[in-house]
Amino acid sequence: MDEDDFLPWEDFDKLHVIRRLREIVGEWWKVQLNFTDHRGYLRGVPKGKFFNPIHQVCRGIAADDKGFRGCLGTVRKTKDLKGHDKTEKGYCHAGFSTITVPITVEGKYLGSVFGDGFIAQETEKEQKTQIKKTLQNLFKSDTQLQNYVENLPVLSAKEVQYLTEMIEMVVAEILLAYSNLWNVKKEVDELKTELMSRYEFSKMVGKSHEMQKLYSLIERIKDSTAIVLIEGENGTGKELIARALHYNSKRRRGKFVALNCGAFNENLLESELFGHVKGAFTGAFKDKKSLFEIANDGTLFLDEIGDMPLAMQVKLLRVLQEGSYRPVGDTETKHTSTRVLAATNQALEEMVRNGKFREDLYYRLNVINLRVPPLRERSEDIPLLIEHFLKQFAESMNTDIKQPDKKCLHKLLSYHWPGNVRELENEIERLYVLAGEEPTLSADDLSARVGDGGGVKVVETQTGKLKDVLEQVEFEMIREGLNRTHWNKSLLAKELGMSRANLIMKVEKYGLGKKERKAG
Ligand SMILES: Nc1ncnc2c1ncn2[C@@H]1O[C@H](COP(=O)(O)OP(=O)(O)OP(=O)(O)O)[C@@H](O)[C@H]1O
Ligand SMILES: [Mg+2]
Repeated sequence: MDEDDFLPWEDFDKLHVIRRLREIVGEWWKVQLNFTDHRGYLRGVPKGKFFNPIHQVCRGIAADDKGFRGCLGTVRKTKDLKGHDKTEKGYCHAGFSTITVPITVEGKYLGSVFGDGFIAQETEKEQKTQIKKTLQNLFKSDTQLQNYVENLPVLSAKEVQYLTEMIEMVVAEILLAYSNLWNVKKEVDELKTELMSRYEFSKMVGKSHEMQKLYSLIERIKDSTAIVLIEGENGTGKELIARALHYNSKRRRGKFVALNCGAFNENLLESELFGHVKGAFTGAFKDKKSLFEIANDGTLFLDEIGDMPLAMQVKLLRVLQEGSYRPVGDTETKHTSTRVLAATNQALEEMVRNGKFREDLYYRLNVINLRVPPLRERSEDIPLLIEHFLKQFAESMNTDIKQPDKKCLHKLLSYHWPGNVRELENEIERLYVLAGEEPTLSADDLSARVGDGGGVKVVETQTGKLKDVLEQVEFEMIREGLNRTHWNKSLLAKELGMSRANLIMKVEKYGLGKKERKAG
């Protein structure tokens, strides 16, 4: 968990108790209370200032380069309190006494409150000698220096005790006021981790790093009103993502309306998107509501946006910019607060360069860009997806889950899936249908493409358990890949669609490291 800037240091002085305690120790003993964060940086000081000493002399010290570095060192040292939860007494570089009280929540060191600028009776002599040495150059004469030092507050052991208790009170106040923030932060952090490690998000399956990144991005942008452009190859799950964005957002009670921009000619598209009034053109027998109106409190998903005719692009841009549009044949404009999502499997940027897509619309749509990775970049998700679809078809066909036989599973796992998730889904459906009453899915029923599809040769296993077979395939793919790439793990990790760290873990797990190789 990150402790950075969790406490509102700048607000501490707004708490009456803290302000008053700081004033009291200042008035009574000329002691200044400072706050430092977990890195040992002074906090709660006016902007642009390193610190704001009440002592004239401290100001003098800090004005000088060496003195400043000395002060800095004293302040930074507070971070050494990490791991302790006890008050610590010491001296600053100039010889003044310091008291540092750590701010610790659930064993986490968040910073400290420390007081300095006084002399303790017990060590009065040594401290004064040291202080005189440090301050020598700051005074015009020895007498002035002598006078100054003699007038410095000297605290009895009892007073030091009171002072310590007061600083501890300041810390207690901080904890009282802000420790609930820590709990909230912890909860948020836990939720985030949970989300990151979820294999499923709104019907989306995938545990690969790429998919997890996508889930977390969806989570962050779901309630924004910004336009999202979802880019990805055919069948990668663009529409699924658009739905996830809608159904996880605050707009979920509104409608999710999808429009395939490639399925209509220009006129029809216009009347779909913007609606028309009765009599606007031949055949307009009655008013037609626009999709912007139907999806007003919801989401309008413009699929295959790359297929939208240029003339329509101009009209769409206007709605996106102004939030208003005019139904065909109408004289009045209407307002819309629909959230717009768009998807494409075409390289829009290239289309812009070739003049096939308007540049201004492209930038307008591309406020947030979601790229859906193709299956070949995340092959570690394939076994999960197979399992997911096995279950899905069993449910929809109201049968027990059927398992692929060994050969069938090998073929499914080693195929390249150029058609992505949809192709995989179709293949499993085909197997289910052709299996009829049979309890297992047979390799003989695979489509020709998948049945003959090459890929990595896999070893026949003795057991039929899914997990064992998967491990065997994984082992083979990694072993073959390591040889082929001459142990280039970064390259291989990329090829296999897994993180480098994950690959290294697997290499160790299967004893495929170079050392083991030599030994073997
Ligand atoms: N991560 C996933 N987990 C589970 N199912 C998925 C996943 N991605 C896609 N699918 C399924 O694959 C099929 C294709 O997904 P979808 O229609 O969202 O893709 P698309 O990118 O819009 O495809 P196209 O380019 O053909 O329009 C759907 O049945 C969807 O449920
Ligand atoms: Mg689609």
